[in-house]
Amino acid sequence: MGSGKPKSGGDLAATSGPLAAPDAGLIWEYAPAPESRDIVSIAPEYGLFIDGEFRPAESGRTFATLNPATEESLSQVAEAGPADVDRAVTAARSAYERAWSVLPGSERAKYLFRIARLLQERSREFAVLESLDNGKPIRESRDVDIPLAAAHFFYYAGWADKLEHAGYGADPRPVGVAGQVIPWNFPLLMAAWKLAPALAAGNTCVLKPAETTPLTALLLAEVCQQAGLPPGVVNVLTGAGETGAALVSHPGIDKIAFTGSTEVGKQIAQATAGTGKKLTLELGGKAANVVFDDAPVEQAIEGIVNGIFFNQGHVCCAGSRLLVQESVADVVVDRLQRRLGTLRLGDPLDKNTDIGAINSRQQLDKITELSAAGDAEGAHRWTAPCQLPASGFWFPPTLFTGVSQSHRIAREEIFGPVLSVLTFRTPEEAVAKANNTPYGLSAGVWTDKGSRILWMAQRMRAGVVWANTYNRFDPASPFGGYQESGYGREGGRHGLAAYLDV
Ligand code: NAI
Ligand code: MG
Repeated sequence: MGSGKPKSGGDLAATSGPLAAPDAGLIWEYAPAPESRDIVSIAPEYGLFIDGEFRPAESGRTFATLNPATEESLSQVAEAGPADVDRAVTAARSAYERAWSVLPGSERAKYLFRIARLLQERSREFAVLESLDNGKPIRESRDVDIPLAAAHFFYYAGWADKLEHAGYGADPRPVGVAGQVIPWNFPLLMAAWKLAPALAAGNTCVLKPAETTPLTALLLAEVCQQAGLPPGVVNVLTGAGETGAALVSHPGIDKIAFTGSTEVGKQIAQATAGTGKKLTLELGGKAANVVFDDAPVEQAIEGIVNGIFFNQGHVCCAGSRLLVQESVADVVVDRLQRRLGTLRLGDPLDKNTDIGAINSRQQLDKITELSAAGDAEGAHRWTAPCQLPASGFWFPPTLFTGVSQSHRIAREEIFGPVLSVLTFRTPEEAVAKANNTPYGLSAGVWTDKGSRILWMAQRMRAGVVWANTYNRFDPASPFGGYQESGYGREGGRHGLAAYLDV
C-alpha cells in the first residue's frame, strides 16, 4: 500500500510492502500532491450562528475541533446550552412567521439557488476545510461531498415554487421550525440534505452539526449571510450530545430530523413521543453487498472497495457484509486483497490519497474493539500492507474471512474500513443472509442477469438496492431505511414529505 514513500514491489495491480505478491516487480511511484490549505482561513474561535449573526455561547463555554489526521486543534467552537437553544428557536420562529413561510416559493428558490452557486464558487475552500476537520481524502470531499451538497440545494430550489405538484395536495404547508441533528461522516452533505428540503418547503431551521466536525456548517452559515438569507431562517448551534438533546426537547420545535447512531435515534424517538413533533430518523446499517458467480469480477471488486472503504467506511449505507457465492469466493477474496494493496493511506489533503484518517479517537477505539471481537470469535483477519502515520487516528483496510452470521462483526455496525466476508450457495440463501440483520438501509447485488437483479431487489429488505454499482447518490432519488435503520425518506420528492404538513 502506498504510504507516500518510494517503493519497489508489484505492478500496478499488485501489492507492495511486507505482504507483497510474489510476482512483485515495480510499482508506480507518486510524488506527494497536497492540496494547499491556504485557500481556507480558519478562525481561532467560532461563535454560534443565531438570527443571522455569530455570537458566543451564553455560558462562554467552548470546545476544540481537531484535525484527526494530525491531532492538531483547528479551532475553538462555542458550546451551545439551553439558553442558546432557546434563542435560536425563538429566532427561527420569528423568521418563520415574518420572513420565510410567507415568501412565495419562487422567492425562496432564489435564495436556495444562490446558496448552491456560492457552494460551487467556494468549493475548494469547503473541500479543504472538510478534509481538515473530518479526515476524509480531499479526492472525496472535492469530488463527492461538496458537489453533492450543491446539487441538493439546486435540486430543492427547483421544488420551492412547484410544491403543489409534489403530490401532497394543492397547497401544501410547511411544518414550522425544524431542529436538525447531523453526524460527522458527511458534515456538509448532511447539512445540505437537511436544510435544502426544509427551506424549499418554507420551514426555518436550527441545525446542530457533530462535535468533531462543526467547521463546514459554520462556513455554510457564512454563505447564508453572503446569500442575504433573512436572519433566523438558518441557525447553527455547535455542541455535543447535550446540545442536541436540548434542541430535541425544546417545545418550540415542530419537527426533528436526525442522522446518527441507532442508540441516540431511539432516545430521540422516546423524547419526542407524544409531543406532536414530527420525526424522521436516518440511522445505522449493516448492508449486504451480494456477489453472484456470474458477476463481472473486476467491476464487482471496484464496487466492493467503494462500498466499504469509501470515507474510511464511515458510511451508514456501507456494504460492510460481503456475501459472495461460494464457487467464486476464493477468486474474489484474492483479487480484493490485491486491489486493497494498491490503496494509498495517508495525508487527507494529498490528492493521491484513497484512505484518510478515522474521524476521532473514540471511533478508532470502537473499530479496534469490534475487530478484536472478530479475532476472538474465530474469524480470520487480513490487513492491507501499509504504514500508518505516527500521529492521528488511523486504521488499515481490513478483511475478515471465515465470518459466521452470529459473529459480532457480521451483526454490529463497525463504521470503519473493515469488511466481513460470508459465502452463500443459492439465491435463496443469499436473500436469507442479507436480511438477517436488525437494520435495513441499503444493499448491493452484482450479477450479469437482469432478472436476478429484480428478483433480489424484491426480496432484500433495504431502503436502497444498488445493482452492479454501490454508494451512488443523486438528490432526485429518495434514501432511507427500514427497522433499526430508521424511518422517513430524504432526497427526491419523497424528502419533501418530512417538511410538509401532510
Ligand atoms: P451519535 O449518534 O452520538 O452522534 C450523531 C449526532 O447526534 C451528533 O451531532 C451528536 O452530537 C448528536 N447527539 C448525541 N447524543 C445526542 C442526544 N442524546 N440527543 C440529541 N443529539 C445527540 O453518533 P457517534 O457517537 O458519533 O457515533 C457512534 C456510532 O454511531 C458510530 O460508530 C456509528 O456506528 C454510528 N453512526 C452512524 C451514522 C449514520 O450516518 N448512520 C453517523 C454517525 C454515527
Ligand atoms: Mg474535527
